[in-house]
This record gives sequence, C-alpha cells and structure tokens, in this order.
Amino acid sequence: MEVIILPDPQKAATLVARIVAREVRADPGLVLGLATGRTMERVYGELVELHRREGLDCSRCTTFNLDEYIGIPADHPGSYRRYMEDLLFSRMKIGRPCLPDGMAADLAGECRRYEAEIARAGGIGLQLLGLGADGHIGFNEPLSALRSRTREKALTPATLEQNAPMFGGDPAQVPRRAITMGVGTILDSRRCLMLVTGAAKAAILAQAVEGPITAMVTASALQLHPKCQVVVDVAASAGLKGVDYYRWVFANEPEWAGFQDLA
Ligand code: GLP
Repeated sequence: MEVIILPDPQKAATLVARIVAREVRADPGLVLGLATGRTMERVYGELVELHRREGLDCSRCTTFNLDEYIGIPADHPGSYRRYMEDLLFSRMKIGRPCLPDGMAADLAGECRRYEAEIARAGGIGLQLLGLGADGHIGFNEPLSALRSRTREKALTPATLEQNAPMFGGDPAQVPRRAITMGVGTILDSRRCLMLVTGAAKAAILAQAVEGPITAMVTASALQLHPKCQVVVDVAASAGLKGVDYYRWVFANEPEWAGFQDLA
C-alpha cells in the first residue's frame, strides 16, 4: 500500500483523475471500477474537465460501479445510477457503463450476473474507492467476509445516517439494503486507488491503513492488495504515523515525477 498526502481535497481529486487519465491513454479499452459518494464528485468533475480541455476519451472504456441501493428506481435522485448519470455519463461518452440493478426481481441472480459481467470484461483494471465513516469500501459493512463477492448487504445505521443528505436529510428515507461488489471482488482488480479527504475520516483512515487487517474495517483488506494507492488530503492524514515516509516516497519515486505540481 502507498499513501499520497496532498494539501487539499481538490488537489487530491485532481491526482486521482490524472492517474485515471494516464491509464486510459495507455489502454483506451480500460475496465474501470467506479465509486460514488461526495468525495468522488470532484474526481468526476476533473475527468469531465480533462475531456473538455485535453480530449480525454473514455468512449472505449467499460465501467463497473461498486454498488447500488436496493428498491429505488434508476431515476430516483438518491440512486447511484442517477449520481453517475448526472456527474459523468451525461457529460462525456463512456463506452459501456454498468451498475448493479437494485430493482431486479431476482437479486441473488443479479449479483451473480454482475460478477460474470466483470469476468467477461476481463476483470477490473483500475478500481476507484471511497471510504465510509465505518471503514467500508463499496457497501461492505463491518464483518463483511474479506473474500466476499457481489451480494446483497444490509446497511448499518451509521451508513444510513452518513448517506441521509442524498435523501433529503432523513436517514429513514435511505434504502436499508444495497447490492455491493464484495471485498474479494475489489481485491481482484489489478489496481486500487482510494480517495479520502476531510478531518472526519482521519481516525478511520488510520485504522484502515495502519491498523490490523480486520473485517470490522473492510478497507483494511486493501493492505493485502499488491497495488493499492491511497490519496488523501492533509486533514484526513492527521491520524497517520508514517507521514514523513509517505511524503518522501511521493517526492522521490519516479512514478510520481509528473505530479509534483500538486504537492
Ligand atoms: C457510500 C458508498 C461508498 C463510499 C462512501 C463514502 O457509502 N457506498 O462506496 O465510499 O459512500 O462517502 P462520502 O464520500 O460521501 O464520504
């Protein structure tokens, strides 16, 4: 795992978008795993900018979102399909955007179909991730099996609370269940890129990155991934012990030479 600390949330999101752009330019048919949440909004804004300014072309990419709520239609303002349409899919051409269908009559079958679809696409090349307040990735709530695959999951009261702003501020309006890629599905992607910003995430980020691997904090399973990079702002880095080393790596490793304007 590698941690990159940048001065503010905008620079952190810009780095993530620039990494995505570099990967898409190297492989125009890249299979991208996408994440939702407020943290990711800036990343999609930056990608759209790169499309406008520099002609970034994702028209041959397939994308797979991590998760979707169960029981709300795709055009519901709180659905992740709608989030993706509004922030990305309606603004630049994406070859084949895929999300799980939270309205499927056979939800277990839909989960199996989604896994098969990812496999048919050749697996995920680059997976974007946010971090939930309870340490979840996707909707893999505490005690999710670290080898889990795409399945239905009950959301924790803390998650309902965290996501209430997208449902008029009322946790009771947030769907109680979701379809989510499993931790095992996420770990199968060839590269993981997690974006975490803000002081409110500092303690849970430190547990995920520097704490023990535990199903209580499913993001900690990313420590097992051979290529996982975590991009954070200074506020989110406040609980980390290894800050000096992380900064040194970003300043010195050749991989980051083209990104020093963001430091
Ligand atoms: C939701 C998503 C997660 C995301 C999290 C972070 O719970 N299912 O994939 O990481 O939100 O949200 P935010 O960026 O709004 O803090």
